[in-house]
Amino acid sequence: MGKLEEIQKRRTFGIISHPDAGKTTLTEKLLLFGGAIQSAGAVKSNKIKKHATSDFMDIERQRGISVATSVMAFYYKEKKINILDTPGHKDFAEDTYRTLTAVDSAIVVIDVAKGVEEQTEKLVKVCKTRNTPMIVFVNKMDREGKDGFDLLDEIEGKLKMKACPLSWPIGMGQRFKGVYNIFESKLVLFDSHGKQDEESTIVIESLDDPILEQKVGDQLARELREEVEMINEVYPSFDQEAYNAGELNPVFFGSAINNFGVKEMLDCFVEIAPMPLARQTEERLVDPLEDKFSGFIFKIHANMDPKHRDRIAFLRICSGIFERNTNYLHVRNDKKIKFSNPTAFMAEKKSVIDEAYPGDIVGLYDSGNFKIGDAVTEGEKLHFIGIPSFSPEQFRYINNADPLKSKQLNKGVSQLMDEGVAQLFIMENSGRKIIGTVGALQFDVIQYRIEHEYGAKCTYEPINMHKATWIGYSDDVAFKEFYTRRRNNIAKDKDGKWVFLAESAWSLNTVMEAHPKISFHTSSEFE
Ligand code: G4P
Repeated sequence: MGKLEEIQKRRTFGIISHPDAGKTTLTEKLLLFGGAIQSAGAVKSNKIKKHATSDFMDIERQRGISVATSVMAFYYKEKKINILDTPGHKDFAEDTYRTLTAVDSAIVVIDVAKGVEEQTEKLVKVCKTRNTPMIVFVNKMDREGKDGFDLLDEIEGKLKMKACPLSWPIGMGQRFKGVYNIFESKLVLFDSHGKQDEESTIVIESLDDPILEQKVGDQLARELREEVEMINEVYPSFDQEAYNAGELNPVFFGSAINNFGVKEMLDCFVEIAPMPLARQTEERLVDPLEDKFSGFIFKIHANMDPKHRDRIAFLRICSGIFERNTNYLHVRNDKKIKFSNPTAFMAEKKSVIDEAYPGDIVGLYDSGNFKIGDAVTEGEKLHFIGIPSFSPEQFRYINNADPLKSKQLNKGVSQLMDEGVAQLFIMENSGRKIIGTVGALQFDVIQYRIEHEYGAKCTYEPINMHKATWIGYSDDVAFKEFYTRRRNNIAKDKDGKWVFLAESAWSLNTVMEAHPKISFHTSSEFE
């Protein structure tokens, strides 16, 4: 098979949801369809147990296991599908944000009873900043939940999506009879055993077909006709270009645990989801069909065994063909680098590969060279953009608790920051270091790992901080004045970018008003 065909058949995506909406269950069903796993439960056992939220070591251990589920690849209808795992736990939201930089599209899972939840909103927002095409799957239709139209309103209101229902539920909970597949004009019936087989899928020419009454009863048949008529009137029909541009979002209904409605969505997904997309760099747009290889690191996973401090860096291939044992350029270090054991992930299995194509994710063993966002190329000095840092939500000063080990502490902190465990800010006035994280858990993780992997010790000191904002300016004089007056709150991030640390929303506003020529951004990348 030629390079073009290989690239065209790849679909790389992530599933996002609020915890418990059914992401793991859906992932598992997709893998079962692809024949990548044989039994249910295989993915689930790798999941971070929800009751262990207070035990960070358990979570880290689970994260160790979850290397295997970081990428789950399978074949379906001659497409190679790469699912990128996104941790649902909110303390690892940064991991998820970064993983979303490596996908070409996403599936958003919503619980029919709970509707759009907080974490879903945040993750969809991140996808929207990149215009990532998204499909919505409303899950748990076997349970009582919100009305379909109310959910569409929520999807449009809270997620700012343009909903385009491609399937529609017939009843719900106890009365759930199945879905009408609008995309293919098919009636798909849910049998009492929760199975969906060929016989339960009926192709009908139109909704006037009396078979509808026979199968779902008079009342539900009438309701379905009315509702589908309303959908046709109110909602736009599917438009491939609008979906590709992130401006139209197909919506499906089903029940992942019962494997119902999943096939409808998957069949549609393989047809409409985009092949590997071009990626923007500071220098130029990189097309997947280019001859020369390029890729970027979007995730780094530490080895949980302290005796082997190697890590796995996950590389998203953006162009060309990646080959084993070939000299490439690690752009940031300006050094040649060669990989003898690049790893690919097929469902639960890992294997060393000789080559990989755009859209694929390769695991590279790394002894501490890589940083999130790093580019690897055949020689061109490219810098991929769109892998920003976001403002952390919790801040603490980090102090050295063992003066003899300050070198080890610095190394540990620096490597953990490269891995993306947390963010480091160095204050301009005092040179003190502040660690910023999304969740409180990371502070424990850092302390533990610094001690066990680097032999150093650290303590934290509380600090009253609300937000980190990255600073933009074009007027040097205005910046100088801002810098002089606000030095106590100015820091540099890991890349040496200027950051203003605000103690409260109020103080941020005051500073913004006082310095209109300075712009303040909640992410490290801005226009
Ligand atoms: P997550 O990865 O998004 O956190 O969710 P996960 O798939 O683990 O699903 C969360 C819970 O919802 C699980 O139940 C799962 O069995 C259930 N679930 C998933 N899909 C459906 C569905 O279509 N209908 C119904 N009724 N439930 C569904 P649990 O009791 O928390 O876990 P478990 O004991 O079943 O593993």
